[in-house]
Amino acid sequence: MSERCIVLGVSGGIAAYKAVELARRLTREGYRVKTVMTEHATRLVAPLTFESVTGQEVSVSLWKEPGKPMHHISLAREAELILVAPATANLIAKMASGIADDLLSTTLLAAECPVMVAPAMNAAMFRHPATRHNLEVLKKRGVEVLGPASGPLACGEEGEGRMLEAEELLEAVKRRLAIRMDMAGVRVLVTAGGTREPLDAVRFLGNRSTGKMGFALAEAASRRGAEVVLVSGPTWLDPPPGVTFIPVETAREMMEAVLSEADKAEAVIKAAAVADFAPVRVREGKIKKERAELLLELERTPDILAELGGRKRPGQVLVGFAAETEELLENAREKMRRKNLDMVVANDVSAEGCGFASDDNRATLLFPDGTCEELPRMSKKRLAEEIMDRVVGMLGRRE
Ligand code: PMT
Repeated sequence: MSERCIVLGVSGGIAAYKAVELARRLTREGYRVKTVMTEHATRLVAPLTFESVTGQEVSVSLWKEPGKPMHHISLAREAELILVAPATANLIAKMASGIADDLLSTTLLAAECPVMVAPAMNAAMFRHPATRHNLEVLKKRGVEVLGPASGPLACGEEGEGRMLEAEELLEAVKRRLAIRMDMAGVRVLVTAGGTREPLDAVRFLGNRSTGKMGFALAEAASRRGAEVVLVSGPTWLDPPPGVTFIPVETAREMMEAVLSEADKAEAVIKAAAVADFAPVRVREGKIKKERAELLLELERTPDILAELGGRKRPGQVLVGFAAETEELLENAREKMRRKNLDMVVANDVSAEGCGFASDDNRATLLFPDGTCEELPRMSKKRLAEEIMDRVVGMLGRRE
């Protein structure tokens, strides 16, 4: 039997029946699955069903495990990962508030391993501000929230609140457990988002960058054990847990923050869309619209990446992005050479569903020795992992 133990938490939602299939699949993948059920869950599915498919004892009570007075602690220590599926609104609320009044909630409070939850509930309960707030609290603490999906619900209504299928949850678990701690002890500086260059008291010149790509990079590096500093232009995204976050607004502010952090970093990855031009003069107050036309005088902003390339210290890995709408590879190669980069991520930002603001991206990775790797369209989170794999490889070769 595998040493890799997963605790499967099952709370009292109708979707508990789907957790049986999940437990079966996880067991077939070779994991040792220890099921912890709430009392309510046992009214929907018998513990014996989980025991039969996993071949492991099922725990329900804090008090009724003979010879195991500290069962919640031993379960939390043994688990490489805890997945709660289904996670009811009540269990999510307890987790968010740190309430520990049964075996499952107590085990979750004692857990130091990765925790994932698969919410399942009525759509109105899922939409409720309390549930939204509780899920945000959990995300900020690093709990991975899987789903829910939209579709027909057990209550007969349609909407968001369906637990993801066993297949999807299994993939999420495998992905999470496959993550290596191969960046432990490495300091990484990431930039994200677009800068804003003020025109007057209320207007600015900006771009469509949301920060999704840079935040995915920061999250990927942090999950692999790196110490991450994330410098970002304005965005509505929450910084990933454990990352040092430095919010900035203009290209000059980004330059200051980046230059003060760059020397300490072994790897610098610049995904930010920095404005290339800024107004020469910021007008006081609001520019009046009575005039027939308005001519703006713009000046070049500092090229932060070129500056970093010029002062790169031995062993440091410097990665830039190239956002292009034409002649992708030629332009990207020219940027790599001019800015003294170790890798450039060339993305064609005119491609449908990729580039600025989308969840997906399509990139070609270029290296100074002339090699290039064309990657298929994938999520920005997946692309971030691909980039980190290359960064880890380059850092390793320089040790
Ligand atoms: O934020 P998202 O919505 O997820 O979108 C992601 C993205 C499209 C913004 C991202 O994938 C991307 O391509 N980022 C780089 C955008 C860009 O500014 O490209 P560029 O080709 O203009 O600049 C080349 C490189 O120089 C970039 O690494 C940029 O950070 C850097 N640069 C540019 C200008 C400047 N003044 N200083 C810089 O450091």
